[in-house]
Amino acid sequence: NVSMQHVQCRVCCCLHISQQEAILEDLRTDIPVHFNFLFSDSHVEVISGKLEGIYAWIGINFVLGKFQHAHNDGDAVVEVNVPGSDQQAALVRKRTAGVLDMGGVSTQIAFEVPKSVSFASPQQEEVAKNLLAEFNLGCDAHQTDHVYRVYVSTFLGFGGNAARQTYEESLIKNTTMQNKLLGQHVGETEKTPLLDPCLPTDLQDQIGTSEQKLHVLGTGDFDQCRLRLQPFLNRTNEPQTSLNGIFQPAIDYNNSQFFGFSEFYYCTEDVLRMGGDYNASKYAQAAKSYCATQWKTLRERFDSGLYASHADLHRLQYQCFKSAWMYEVLHSGFSFPPDYKNLKTAFLVYDKEVQWTLGAILFRTRFLPLRDIQQESLKGVHSHWRHSFSFVNNHYLFLVCFFIVLLSIILYMLRLRRIHRRAAQRCSPSSVPWLEDGLGSPTLPINL
Ligand SMILES: *[C@@H]1O[C@H](CO)[C@@H](O)[C@H](O)[C@H]1NC(C)=O
Ligand SMILES: *[C@@H]1O[C@H](CO)[C@@H](O)[C@H](O)[C@H]1NC(C)=O
Repeated sequence: NVSMQHVQCRVCCCLHISQQEAILEDLRTDIPVHFNFLFSDSHVEVISGKLEGIYAWIGINFVLGKFQHAHNDGDAVVEVNVPGSDQQAALVRKRTAGVLDMGGVSTQIAFEVPKSVSFASPQQEEVAKNLLAEFNLGCDAHQTDHVYRVYVSTFLGFGGNAARQTYEESLIKNTTMQNKLLGQHVGETEKTPLLDPCLPTDLQDQIGTSEQKLHVLGTGDFDQCRLRLQPFLNRTNEPQTSLNGIFQPAIDYNNSQFFGFSEFYYCTEDVLRMGGDYNASKYAQAAKSYCATQWKTLRERFDSGLYASHADLHRLQYQCFKSAWMYEVLHSGFSFPPDYKNLKTAFLVYDKEVQWTLGAILFRTRFLPLRDIQQESLKGVHSHWRHSFSFVNNHYLFLVCFFIVLLSIILYMLRLRRIHRRAAQRCSPSSVPWLEDGLGSPTLPINL
């Protein structure tokens, strides 16, 4: 099945266009040299954040079996107005899972929008067009049972590390300004540190560059930290919006399911050990208690191996900040109510690390079932498959020849034994004429 192989590489979207092109050119040259699968230049491309989100959504829902028809009574279902179909009757099918993913740099949300959406303004409609994708995962374009309308939004700068960086930059800016205005010296020395509620209690640190350095001291106040972080969500008052005032269609919080990956998992599991089913009040309680703990104590716990092996000192140091950031993004940014029951934070789905590449393969090959490939090859349209068929035929030819030769040898041996027996009966051991006879006759096996 060589032609079905796919190679997925990840090229950072932040690279300059010319750098992207250089990498792609390199791949186009080298892949055909090192791999012998079907390859054309159009097989390498840079995909958008939106497409990556859609692929991830497809991959996860495929692994969860959400695209299957047959459902048990226990399966959650949802009523869908299939996009683009003029049927008035809504379709009832398996409810798909939404995806939340917070990396170091960006945060992404993707979920199915079962009903058609209305917009607050024409501008919002314009923005929404770029955030909603409609695609058919059925076996052919006419089947509408598997047409999905999915919302995907990526927020650059809203990942855990990027958020911390933005926060520190704003601390530096504001503190320097205030120091100038009021003639203060906050953060200039270790003795007069700037207090940061988002660092664990009594953790001393320095932030900024060598030219503009600030000494900070953690006060470990989770609630205060959350308040401080709210402006960074950059929300607006417009309805149906989330982070940065970006359009987000309503989520049915009573009938939906979400999975939280990366930072959603690390924040809940690495230190707090509550990965899996997410409970906002329990999480906030645990995060609050972590923030309030003395840094010295946290270090001791770390040294005695109390935390997950994945957790390192960086995690320990920024756990308080990140847990507050995650909480705010989830509840204030994406507007999940604090009593939301259906979020699971996860690293693996059914023991598989699901990546967008799986969704990419499923999506790219959705109209390409094997039977179509075979039909094409029978028609002789596809030279590659014809080639493989003639190769198979050669195998058969070889086997037939092999068996003819084998059969001949067996028959020859049988004949030798018969002659030998007859010769033994005649009791003439001095001469062996049959031997010379047999060897001297190259056509013997076939003449049998
Ligand atoms: C905040 O949101 C506005 C749009 O609502 C956007 O123009 C601006 O760049 C955002 N600010 C940041 C820091 O992302
Ligand atoms: C979360 O946990 C608390 C305390 O155990 C419990 O009272 C509450 O019902 C839980 N919330 C949800 C949404 O499950």
